[in-house]
Amino acid sequence: MNWLIISGTNRPQSNTLKVSNHLAGLLKTNLRDQNENVAVLDLQNLPLEIFAPSAYASKPSSFDSFREAVLKADAVISVLPEYNGSAPGVFKYFLDMLPFPQSLQKIPCAFVGLSSGRFGSLRSVEHMQQIFGYRNAFIFPERIFIPAVDKSIDENGKPKEDFIQQLMEQMMIGFILFTRSLRKPS
Ligand SMILES: Cc1cc2nc3c(=O)[nH]c(=O)nc-3n(C[C@H](O)[C@H](O)[C@H](O)COP(=O)(O)O)c2cc1C
Repeated sequence: MNWLIISGTNRPQSNTLKVSNHLAGLLKTNLRDQNENVAVLDLQNLPLEIFAPSAYASKPSSFDSFREAVLKADAVISVLPEYNGSAPGVFKYFLDMLPFPQSLQKIPCAFVGLSSGRFGSLRSVEHMQQIFGYRNAFIFPERIFIPAVDKSIDENGKPKEDFIQQLMEQMMIGFILFTRSLRKPS
């Protein structure tokens, strides 16, 4: 199976990318199978051409690998920072650039939020759950919210608090079971 973690911002040196990489490690550890592929999609690497107004009508070939990463994903975890009380605009724009309606359709999807403030990006996660619901994703109900992220993770994106680290491990185990039960070969 292909597991995709989307780091939901293009801000350089983002905490979101650190947390995404940490989650990728946890996912790999818990998958315990050589044939599983875990990838982190860093929106910082989006090609500039995708932001041209012409991209609505015609996608640049430099976007192909991003589109394919989503289309071939069997499961998606979105890691979302809070920007102005919601997810970063680039994340929604990325969704808008994906093929409709096949992207995310009946794909197990989970969400992790993080913010400098007290609410750990609850608002952006709930906002994006609504949008993923519109796209007919199978939404995993457990979420994790990391508040005061600048102080609560280390340089590798690992939570300093054991409680949050344990929540992450439990969430990855639960999401693996959820995905496998929904993606059984017919
Ligand atoms: C444009 C912008 C808007 C932000 N808005 C919020 C906000 O509404 N609430 C909040 O708690 N933090 C806000 N932050 C801080 C982020 O939560 C913080 O940067 C955090 O580290 C997660 O994002 P990162 O991946 O960019 O590091 C904002 C940051 C940026 C760059």
